Amino acid sequence: MSIRLGMVGIGQFAQHFVPLYKAHPLVRELSLCDLDPAKLTAAAEKYGVAKTYPSLDAILNSDVDAVVIITQHWLHGPQAMQALRAGKHVYSAVPCGISIEEIGQLVRTVEETGKIYMMGETSYYYPHVTWCREQYRRGVFGDVFYAESNYHHDWDIKSIDSRGIMKTRMGKRFMELAGEPPMLYPTHTMSQVIGVTGAHMTKVSAHGWKDRHPDGIYDPAVNGFKNAFSNETALLTMSDGACACVNEFRRVGHPGGEFMSLCGTEASFEYTQAGRVVIGKGFEDTRRLDDILTLRPGVYGGTAAAQDVARLPASFANLPNNHWGSHHFLVDDFVKACASGEPPPNNVWQAARYMIPGLIAHESAEQGGRQLEIPDLGGPKK
Ligand SMILES: NC(=O)c1ccc[n+]([C@@H]2O[C@H](COP(=O)([O-])OP(=O)(O)OC[C@H]3O[C@@H](n4cnc5c(N)ncnc54)[C@H](O)[C@@H]3O)[C@@H](O)[C@H]2O)c1
Repeated sequence: MSIRLGMVGIGQFAQHFVPLYKAHPLVRELSLCDLDPAKLTAAAEKYGVAKTYPSLDAILNSDVDAVVIITQHWLHGPQAMQALRAGKHVYSAVPCGISIEEIGQLVRTVEETGKIYMMGETSYYYPHVTWCREQYRRGVFGDVFYAESNYHHDWDIKSIDSRGIMKTRMGKRFMELAGEPPMLYPTHTMSQVIGVTGAHMTKVSAHGWKDRHPDGIYDPAVNGFKNAFSNETALLTMSDGACACVNEFRRVGHPGGEFMSLCGTEASFEYTQAGRVVIGKGFEDTRRLDDILTLRPGVYGGTAAAQDVARLPASFANLPNNHWGSHHFLVDDFVKACASGEPPPNNVWQAARYMIPGLIAHESAEQGGRQLEIPDLGGPKK
C-alpha cells in the first residue's frame, strides 16, 4: 500500500529529507507545508513538488495519510497530537515533546488513535550503534553492564555554524531559548545506549557545570529556563541492572559529535576520536573497526559497511544522505511502518524513553545530584 505524505516545516533541516520522501517507492504523492510563503515556493520549485499548503491546519484538512513534522522543536508535541487526532500518521524530528506532561499526552494520543508515530532519532542508525546492536543480539558483549554516551556540540565548532542555525531557528527569541539545559535535548545520547541493549533508564543522579562564557547564553537571568548549566553529566541505572553515564556538553573543546563506548562481561567497544575498537575475551588483539564503521562516499549518499543498505529502496542509491548515513534509514522505516501498520523502531514509547531521562536528569542537577526515579510510559502495545 502506498501513501500520500506531507512535510510540515521546510526549513534548514527538512531540505535533507524532501528528495528522500519524494523518491520513496511507497510514497505516491508528496506535498509541502510551511508558514513562510517564500520558503514554501522556493522548496516546491527546487524539488519539483506540485502541491503546497500554507498552514498545518490546511494540510491536516487534506487527504494526506501521513505528515513529517520538522518545525522548531518546542512545537513538535502539540503539532504531532493535532495531526494524530486528524487521523494522520506522524514522523517528528527530535524531540518528541518538551515536558513529561506533554510526552505523556502524546503517548496517550498515539494509543487512542492507533496511528503510527515515529521520532526521527538519527543516532539510533549510526554505524557504531547499528554494529553494537547487532553484536549485542549475537551475544558478543555478554551482559552489557556499563555504557558511556556523549553528545558534544560546542557553540563554536568550526565545521558547523551553530549560532547561525540557531538564530534562524529561534529568531528574535534566540537569547531566551538558546540557553536550554543540555539535558532537555538528550535523545542523541540516550538512544545510543537504549538502541543497543533495549533496556531503559530507571533512576538518575546528575550534575551541571556552570557556564563562564561571556556571550551570556547560559546566564540564568537572561535565558527563559533560568539555566546556568552548559554541560551536564548524568549517572543512570538501567532496567536490566546496568549503569550508564551520559554527557550532554555545549561548551567543550572538541570537534563534536555523538559517540558511545560500552563494557560487557565478554567484550567491550571503545569509541575514541583516534579510532573505534572492539576488545575482549574472544579477541586476541584489539580489533580496529574503522573499516566497517567509516562512511563510504557514494554508497547510498555515504553509508558504512555496518549499515544494511540492501534493505533500502534502490531509488535512494544516488541521493544525498547525512548524519552518518541515518537519513535514508529514517525515511524508509517511517514509510514502511505507515504502509504495514507495524510500529517503527523509534516509536512513541521509545521516544519517551529517550527524552524523559534527560528531563529528570536536569531536575536532579538542579537539586545538586539528588537521585530521582524516572517514570516509564511502557512499550508498544502490539
Ligand atoms: N540530528 C537531528 O536529529 C537534527 C538535526 C538538526 C535539526 N533537527 C531538528 O529539526 C527541527 C527543525 O530545525 P531547523 O533548523 O530546520 O529549523 P528552521 O527554523 O530552519 O525550520 C523550521 C520551519 O518550520 C516552519 N514552521 C513552523 N511552524 C509551522 C507551522 N505551524 N506550519 C508549517 N510550518 C511551520 C518554519 O516556518 C520554518 O521554515 C528542529 O526541531 C531540530 O530539533 C534535528
